[in-house]
Amino acid sequence: MRPTVLITRKIFDEVVAFVKEHFEVEDNQNDGPFSPDELIRRLQGKAGAIILLTDRIDEGVLSQCPDLKIVSNIAVGYNNIDVPACTRHGVMVTNTPGVLDDTTADFTWTLLLATARHLVEADQYLRSLKWDGWKLMEFLGYDVHHKTLGICGLGRIGQGVARRAKGFSMKILYTDLIRASSSIEEDLGVRFADKKTLLAESDFVTLHVPLESQTTHYLSRAELALMKPTAILINASRGPVVDEKALVQALQEGKIAGAGLDVYEREPEVEPVLLGMKNVVLAPHIASASYETRLRMAMMAAENLIAGLTGKRPPNLVNEEVLSL
Ligand code: DGY
Repeated sequence: MRPTVLITRKIFDEVVAFVKEHFEVEDNQNDGPFSPDELIRRLQGKAGAIILLTDRIDEGVLSQCPDLKIVSNIAVGYNNIDVPACTRHGVMVTNTPGVLDDTTADFTWTLLLATARHLVEADQYLRSLKWDGWKLMEFLGYDVHHKTLGICGLGRIGQGVARRAKGFSMKILYTDLIRASSSIEEDLGVRFADKKTLLAESDFVTLHVPLESQTTHYLSRAELALMKPTAILINASRGPVVDEKALVQALQEGKIAGAGLDVYEREPEVEPVLLGMKNVVLAPHIASASYETRLRMAMMAAENLIAGLTGKRPPNLVNEEVLSL
């Protein structure tokens, strides 16, 4: 008998069809997240699942779904999954790294440029038929070229952002737990700085750290206070990396000039004050959302699932140690 797997949300038909070549599939074409109880009920009796970052897999779920052998996340970040608990239950965890790096770096730049140049506000102004002709003093933004960019986290996405910054003749600082090799630094034209120096010297600060206990509120009141009053913050990593209330306060008090955000501390909630602020650009967690990349991510998740349930090592296994249990 073929194992049954769950696909928790709406994904591409061709990916569902591919998974169906191997397993019985229960999918959810409604595209709304299951409640925690419903998720448990649906996962019971399933050998594996393709999930999104809106599905929380923790001890409570795992202890009630003993048949589960693999959870395949369609995302590079997997902070929605309690990985040690999965390992204890012998459940493989996989993600989709690499394929979204350039797409996310592109979108980081989309946010940065749109925020620096008031693009969204200007678009809304024009559409509301308020524009009555060219003015010298209207929608004055900040130059990007020849400014200083501070990249927090020089992983694959951070490096992609740096590569693009070269085209804008920017001075590029970065900070990370581990300093990059001199050949990477030279190739990207980046200079290592400690976090405080980077925050104090950068005109644009962009976050590319994974969400872990050490990076929760990586930027809070004290760190935001170090930034220039003309600086712009960009976050396309994970919402809880920034203390959202502290960010609102910093924007209100003019401690920083603006923010371009793709992610939020309590998604899909957004601090209500942000919604009324003209100096912020807000996107609904879409940095990787190009057709090509999202399809590739979903296909990778399917490949991981199929490998894991057919006795092969999934290409993007997060918890290697589960194999030696
Ligand atoms: C991820 O992959 O972690 C993103 O946040 C969604 O693409």
